[in-house]
Amino acid sequence: MRIVVTTEDEIAQLAAERYTELLLRKPNAVLGLATGSTPLRLYEELAKKCAAHELSFRFARTYNLDEYADLPPEHPQSYRGFMDRHLFSKIDIDPGNTHVPNGIDRSDTALANYDTMIEHAGGIDLQLLGLGLNGHIGFNEPGTPFGSRTHVVRLSESTRHANARFFDRPESVPKEAVSLGIRSVMNARSILLFALGEQKAEPLRAAIYGPVTELLPASVLQLHPDVTIYADREAAELL
Ligand code: GLP
Repeated sequence: MRIVVTTEDEIAQLAAERYTELLLRKPNAVLGLATGSTPLRLYEELAKKCAAHELSFRFARTYNLDEYADLPPEHPQSYRGFMDRHLFSKIDIDPGNTHVPNGIDRSDTALANYDTMIEHAGGIDLQLLGLGLNGHIGFNEPGTPFGSRTHVVRLSESTRHANARFFDRPESVPKEAVSLGIRSVMNARSILLFALGEQKAEPLRAAIYGPVTELLPASVLQLHPDVTIYADREAAELL
């Protein structure tokens, strides 16, 4: 596990270099992407580099971590909408190569199909993760089995509360979501975990130095052979 502590701007630049190197080496790389406020600067940087022809997503394939239940893609708070607005519309990716879990069809077949699609694409080369206040990754809440595949999640009250800032009313935050499972995340060849802000200091400390436990999903990353953690000084305060 490598830990890089620097500013949010430099995190975006360093991580963007990882994407540039990967896509030069493997233009059709499979990228695991995340939502939330944490990756926004990175997405800006990727869009900038793409506009400057420093990297191309022309052959890249992307699979997002999660999606809220029952929000149609055109809903402004759906993660599909988020990705279209903040990244996909700003880079040269083929929209047909972008995938976000289906929050509407949550049948067993649809869930299993998401994992199968990733496997058929060759597996995720680089998985981007943010960190929930309770140590969740994707929407894998505390208690999620490490062996989980794409599944339906009942969101904890703390997660709904944390994400209420994006919705018009706290009650509008969906109660469920679909998330790539922990095993699916751990199958990625390389992982980048971003943690920004003082609120992430305790979950980040626990994820890195605490016991590896399903009660703190991000702690599973201690078992992965290629993880880079990018933290700003506030998030790294307890390291
Ligand atoms: C959300 C998302 C996660 C994200 C995390 C942190 O609930 N499902 O994928 O990493 O919580 O969000 P933020 O980056 O806004 O702090």
